[in-house]
Amino acid sequence: MTKKTPLLTSLLLLLAVFLSFSSPANSAADPEAGEKSASACIGCHGNKGQSKNVQWPNLAAQQSSYLINQLNAFKSGSRTNPMMQAIAATLSEADKANLAAYFSSLPAPTAVSDAALAAAGQEKAALCLGCHGNKGEGRGAIPRLAGQQPDYLVNQLQNFKHGVRQSGPMQSIAGNLSDADMRELAAFFAAM
Ligand code: HEC
Ligand code: HEC
Repeated sequence: MTKKTPLLTSLLLLLAVFLSFSSPANSAADPEAGEKSASACIGCHGNKGQSKNVQWPNLAAQQSSYLINQLNAFKSGSRTNPMMQAIAATLSEADKANLAAYFSSLPAPTAVSDAALAAAGQEKAALCLGCHGNKGEGRGAIPRLAGQQPDYLVNQLQNFKHGVRQSGPMQSIAGNLSDADMRELAAFFAAM
């Protein structure tokens, strides 16, 4: 890559790298075993993965590979959050695969969001849809954003921008977003 490589080309290269790391869902994963283990999750993430707290993410219909990656990141400490690091530390490889199979199989979540902010966010979302999908549904290692809690999305964009959460493509992308952009984009995806 030369210094003249346009931003979009760099982003597409990063995407290709991410996708090459994302493995297909583990065929041995057992969603019924995942549903049993999920009793340890629903206190925060809500019944059927639909959170009632705008700060806490919905897990329903999230991409299975993405869920496993995040549980690994909390376990290794490359993504930091005291509650989730303590929980992820107790999970085996099979637990993670089963939980991911269960949550990814649930019906899509919904979130409450501001209609005027969402309309403004739609104008700015074209770059995001290229990776996160035209319906915000995500793919493999790229998370679903549709129906996610808007305050949670804003927090994560701030975390990427300030390097609290590390991820190649998202740090540079969030680095270019203002606080207002983040609130508008979050409202748009939450309403999808
Ligand atoms: C005490 C509350 C609590 C419990 C219990 C809990 N979580 Fe979490 N979880 C959180 C919070 C808060 C976050 C957001 C962390 C952040 O801001 O980075 C989170 C984030 C996550 C994420 C990342 C979601 C995303 O969109 O990136 C996954 C995956 C996850 N939790 C899975 C689980 C699983 C599986 C369980 C049960 C084994 C569980 N959590 C139990 C509070 C909890
Ligand atoms: C080059 C592909 C790419 C583009 C473009 C992109 N994203 Fe992402 N995004 C990712 C990947 C990959 C992750 C997962 C990062 C990780 O594993 O921690 C992610 C994660 C996120 C998360 C965290 C979600 C969660 O559940 O914690 C948010 C929020 C997000 N992106 C918002 C956006 C927004 C808003 C835009 C447009 C301004 C955008 N992304 C553009 C690839 C992309």
